[in-house]
Amino acid sequence: MSTVALPAWKKLLQSSLQENIAKSGTSATYASIATVRKDNTPAVRTVVMRGFVAEHHTEETGWASDLLLVITDKTSDKVEEIRNNPHTEINWYMNGTMEQFRIGGTVDVIEKEFDQSKLDHLNSSIAASSSANDAKSQKSLALQSFCKQQQTQQALNWQAERLRQFIQFGSTMRANMVHSKQVNQLDINEIDPVSGWFHNDQIQGLLEEAYDNFVLLVLKVTSVRHWSPSTGTKSML
Ligand SMILES: Cc1cc2nc3c(=O)[nH]c(=O)nc-3n(C[C@H](O)[C@H](O)[C@H](O)COP(=O)(O)O)c2cc1C
Repeated sequence: MSTVALPAWKKLLQSSLQENIAKSGTSATYASIATVRKDNTPAVRTVVMRGFVAEHHTEETGWASDLLLVITDKTSDKVEEIRNNPHTEINWYMNGTMEQFRIGGTVDVIEKEFDQSKLDHLNSSIAASSSANDAKSQKSLALQSFCKQQQTQQALNWQAERLRQFIQFGSTMRANMVHSKQVNQLDINEIDPVSGWFHNDQIQGLLEEAYDNFVLLVLKVTSVRHWSPSTGTKSML
């Protein structure tokens, strides 16, 4: 298996994030993402940075990438704005160390209906990692689903990744993606042993509705400017 090069900016971002989560908790994952409205005015809002596509902080997926991930609902304005203009800048301020990462790039929207071939330009940012997942270790439901969907394909299967993210997203967060009625929790009990699809017979319809609204925003990073009180501004890409 090929190994993904670990760019300096990714290494620094990961170590700063770890340090800031230790100091100030998960609020260190909040950042602001900018888009451009149809009338050319800027729009900025807070999102949770979900880490790197195809990776997990506690579980080896067998893949690694330099692509940053945000999860959103298809009804949010940013989805339409990104379709219209995929350029973005993310401002990620980490309070614990007073560091700022300004990350520029373009965003792909991965929703229910997507064309895998239109995502080929992302392949150079993803690779099978050298440390493949251990067949004997206990896999989360999300990873079990991913492995079923991904199978042995050479390139990352984006449906497999979208499913993995949905399953690990959490019951309350999934419930927010149901719009037809008020739901507080949306648990997934099991995954189909053949297809890897999520199941909970009692609420399957609501789960499918939430999955329809579930969107991955994938950021291909083209510039990184890091600022810290001790080093000032440093361009890292
Ligand atoms: C701490 C915090 C975290 C948030 N995380 C997300 C997120 O991960 N994804 C998201 O779509 N919205 C998130 N939001 C809500 C957005 O800031 C925004 O209000 C919403 O996405 C609608 O914005 P839009 O219509 O301009 O896209 C978060 C808000 C806060 C305050």
